[in-house]
Amino acid sequence: MAATSLPSKILVIGATGVIGKHITSAIAKASSAGSIKSISRVSILTSAATVSSPQKQPLLSSWKQQGLSVIAGDITNPEDVRNAYRDIDTVVCCLGRTALLEQIELLRIAEKTDSVQWFFPSEYGTDIEYDATSKHEKPHQNKLKVRAFIKDEIKRLKVTYVVTGPYADMFLDAKSGHEEAGGFNTQTKQAVLIGDGNGKVGLTTMPDVGKLVVAALANPDASVNKALKVQSFVTTPKEILAEFESQTGAKFDVKYTAMDDLQAEEKQAWEKGDSLCALLTLRRIWAQGKTLYEKTDNEALGLSPQDMEPLSAVVGRHIRGEPC
Ligand SMILES: NC(=O)c1ccc[n+]([C@@H]2O[C@H](COP(=O)([O-])OP(=O)(O)OC[C@H]3O[C@@H](n4cnc5c(N)ncnc54)[C@H](OP(=O)(O)O)[C@@H]3O)[C@@H](O)[C@H]2O)c1
Repeated sequence: MAATSLPSKILVIGATGVIGKHITSAIAKASSAGSIKSISRVSILTSAATVSSPQKQPLLSSWKQQGLSVIAGDITNPEDVRNAYRDIDTVVCCLGRTALLEQIELLRIAEKTDSVQWFFPSEYGTDIEYDATSKHEKPHQNKLKVRAFIKDEIKRLKVTYVVTGPYADMFLDAKSGHEEAGGFNTQTKQAVLIGDGNGKVGLTTMPDVGKLVVAALANPDASVNKALKVQSFVTTPKEILAEFESQTGAKFDVKYTAMDDLQAEEKQAWEKGDSLCALLTLRRIWAQGKTLYEKTDNEALGLSPQDMEPLSAVVGRHIRGEPC
């Protein structure tokens, strides 16, 4: 694969995770349907626990039927990683938050191979370099360390960060115990909006994250060595509320949380070591408008607004309780 060649042999790491399964399914489909003709092999490196997990069997079987190969191994074992990298030219990493720093070794090993040319680090979220304040945000620290390692140590590999902003599917969720941090409850017909509810936010649906990664793979000229800013649509909490009310035919009981109150709750959550403290910080960042761009990279990747899922689709899934 030359500098801006199309990918041929792709390895996904973290494939069966929350977002990895959407990304892997989209890549497997792009390969089997021939929408990226250059792809000749798609593999995943996954843990032995995942390979033997009954819950993950239907997903693994459907991928195998599409020709995807499953490699069992430990991402912290360099030998397993080198074996998985054999002949691979493109690595798409979707590791979860607690494993982000493992990517430093994964990148170091990839840099030393003859085959790996292009690496997508696990991002698919909030812009960690949005403005001067971003470098101080606690949830960004591990992704920033990975970017710093790449800047300082990676000379040969091409790298693409896919920055999607919050997942629309998760943005809609009211979090138990932190309902004031925003969200929609279809059962109780209650909603909590941050600020006055008119603040714009850029969201990406989870299936669209897969579509956007495939578009990045299919358009190396637009994506190599870039932090791509992509999204499905821009909306406001009030527009989301109107969509819920229109689809359910019911009026929601609406409460508002002032930004100062959200910040106070965020501070307290970090002090208490609450498991949702990072999410509260992210919700505050999103409400501050730090998902908005004059222009995204969607168009450069060949995607028009009509190619992306609309707000109505994700609200519909939420109301029907369909897992994403
Ligand atoms: N934009 C948003 O709203 C949003 C929301 C959630 C996540 N994200 C981002 O998406 C990326 C992936 O997150 P995720 O929630 O999809 O990940 P996840 O489901 O927690 O984990 C993904 C996969 O990583 C692999 N893994 C191996 N060792 C691990 C370890 N020690 N800890 C965690 N995972 C390990 C596992 O894959 P195998 O079982 O296949 O080995 C696991 O299924 C992250 O960069 C995260 O920040 C963004």
